[in-house]
Amino acid sequence: MDFEAFDRLARSRRATRHFKKEPIPEGLLERVLDTTRWAPSGYNIQPTHFVLSTEADSRYALYKACLEQPQVLEAPAVVVFTGDRRAVENNLEAMLTLELAEGACDDRYATMCRKFVGLAFNQGPLGIGWLGKLLVAPLMRLSKPTPSIPAVHKRYWLCKQVMLGAMTFMLAAEAAGLATIPMEGFDEGRVRKALGIPRSHIVPVVIPVGYAESQNLKKTRLPLAGMMHKEGW
Ligand SMILES: Cc1cc2nc3c(=O)[nH]c(=O)nc-3n(C[C@H](O)[C@H](O)[C@H](O)COP(=O)(O)O)c2cc1C
Repeated sequence: MDFEAFDRLARSRRATRHFKKEPIPEGLLERVLDTTRWAPSGYNIQPTHFVLSTEADSRYALYKACLEQPQVLEAPAVVVFTGDRRAVENNLEAMLTLELAEGACDDRYATMCRKFVGLAFNQGPLGIGWLGKLLVAPLMRLSKPTPSIPAVHKRYWLCKQVMLGAMTFMLAAEAAGLATIPMEGFDEGRVRKALGIPRSHIVPVVIPVGYAESQNLKKTRLPLAGMMHKEGW
């Protein structure tokens, strides 16, 4: 794809609030999600999961949990994006094994990765080690650059990863001729209950997907000059 084509794609994607009844062709949503999983994540830990709701039966509870926003009932599918709080425990070793087998990393990187991920994510004995990290980080920052620590700010870390996937999904869907809308207007606990999502997963965004019923009003953005800061703020 050339830059002009990508620019058109980014400018034409709209938050779609009304959908046609038209179903999504068999396999297309899975195809778009297969593209979505190539979004990047910190240490390639890949904490993002996609929970698909395509049956009308389970949709009503989801609709209620999403503050009765009509697009949740109208769209032929809704994808709930979740972030696994236990992604390191669940994925890290499997990922490193795969990366080593495929030549995507070497032993040195794997050792370094285990060490840093342990320091950054491990919540210590009884799961309260994060408290120590919370107290130690500002002290460390006095003498050397210290990033925000996922063991302390797990939800913040997960939201970053999941939203990269969500944006990739929306652009891939647009390229496949589908319309989407990102939604944060929902009650997370009720969304989890509606689809049986475990408590170990957070829900940063819900995305109905299908074919747009009507064209939105004109899309607009603030000028680039007000948000670009050359060579510093
Ligand atoms: C994280 C996020 C959450 C949003 N939540 C909602 C929502 O709950 N309901 C809704 O109608 N629109 C929601 N929107 C859509 C925005 O209003 C929309 O993206 C914005 O007005 C820009 O329009 P555009 O996406 O068509 O360019 C959300 C957008 C984002 C990025």
